[in-house]
Amino acid sequence: MNTNNSISLKRVKAAYERQFGNDYRFFSAPGRINIIGEHTDYNEGFVLPAAIDKKIYLAIKETNDSKVNLFALDMEESACFDLNKPQPDLPHWAKYVFGVVKELEELGSKVSGFNATFGGDIPAGAGLSSSAALESVFGFALNNIFGLNRSTLQLAKVGQMAEHNYAGVNCGIMDQFASLHGKAGKALKLDCRSLEHEYFTVDTGDYEFILTDTHVKHSLAESAYNKRRYECEEGVMLLQSQMVQVHSLRDVKPKDVVAYENILGEEIMLRCLYVTEEIERVRDAAEALETNDLERLGELMYKSHAGLRNQYMVSCAELDLLVDLTKDNPDVLGSRMMGGGFGGCTLSLVKSSGIEHFEKIAVENYQKTFGKTPSFYPISISDGAQEILR
Ligand code: GLA
Repeated sequence: MNTNNSISLKRVKAAYERQFGNDYRFFSAPGRINIIGEHTDYNEGFVLPAAIDKKIYLAIKETNDSKVNLFALDMEESACFDLNKPQPDLPHWAKYVFGVVKELEELGSKVSGFNATFGGDIPAGAGLSSSAALESVFGFALNNIFGLNRSTLQLAKVGQMAEHNYAGVNCGIMDQFASLHGKAGKALKLDCRSLEHEYFTVDTGDYEFILTDTHVKHSLAESAYNKRRYECEEGVMLLQSQMVQVHSLRDVKPKDVVAYENILGEEIMLRCLYVTEEIERVRDAAEALETNDLERLGELMYKSHAGLRNQYMVSCAELDLLVDLTKDNPDVLGSRMMGGGFGGCTLSLVKSSGIEHFEKIAVENYQKTFGKTPSFYPISISDGAQEILR
């Protein structure tokens, strides 16, 4: 466990004990990186995420009534709601918890009241899926403390639905799935149509993945995220008029997208072209991991960024600069924006001995252009949601 993890863990336990007493169970769920496969999940494509060692920790205990008492340690904010009453006015973070409870009830699971304190070390708004980690840790913990017998796949869907119905983001299933199914040292290739997954060992040898945080918060982009989703759906509808067997962009090849540009129009064509090409890149990247071809993996990451920037148009100047700065650096094999876009982090594959230099270049140029300093997070790939025995 890294130092930040153990600090968070102790802080959460101490805060719970101060407020609610010594009798509780303890859980964690991680954020994620995504090696490649961006905006492909809601198009029934493939993704290649991995859970990381930045997590949310949760101390929780059921009560005998219908009241839920929550304390968010990092925000130092409390919230409560009654399971038998309509949704009260809640702070943003508490809507995710309320949503998870309601979506579990929707499945027919019986949840009663509980006390809970949580906190962690996933930077919020950095594109590392802190909200999915929150949904996952609550889903996982409630499943355990109330003996609900839900599978981790069901819990991932519960988290996704909480996001749709209570936070207003029509996200795909990647983040929640990765937070619940991650494995130390492995990336998981998820088929977002069948929801089958396969693990791939991530052995980066002399290289490592590093996140660079632009500190551009991406929450304002929620409506643009939903807009991209509609654009893809529109693309599918238009393609269906020519290719009856098309159910999602998963069924379409890049060459078909190009062939039907006159029907799609330029903008929708570019969106669909990006998605269909990115789906192919995930297959290639998984193969590159398998054969330990890091150069190939790096090239695919650069191509993914170019597509996200020029075709899908979900990047921003800060992300683009950070990626561009790596292009002449021989220590960097690949770099790209990661997650929903419009801010958050880049993910780069950098030679370990060159990390210091890589950071120096980024800091100097980023400060010069944007007047602020990016942060760097080294990552190690870890296990998904779990109970931590006390
Ligand atoms: C966000 C969503 C995911 C996925 C990514 C983009 O993280 O929550 O479902 O769509 O953006 O790949």
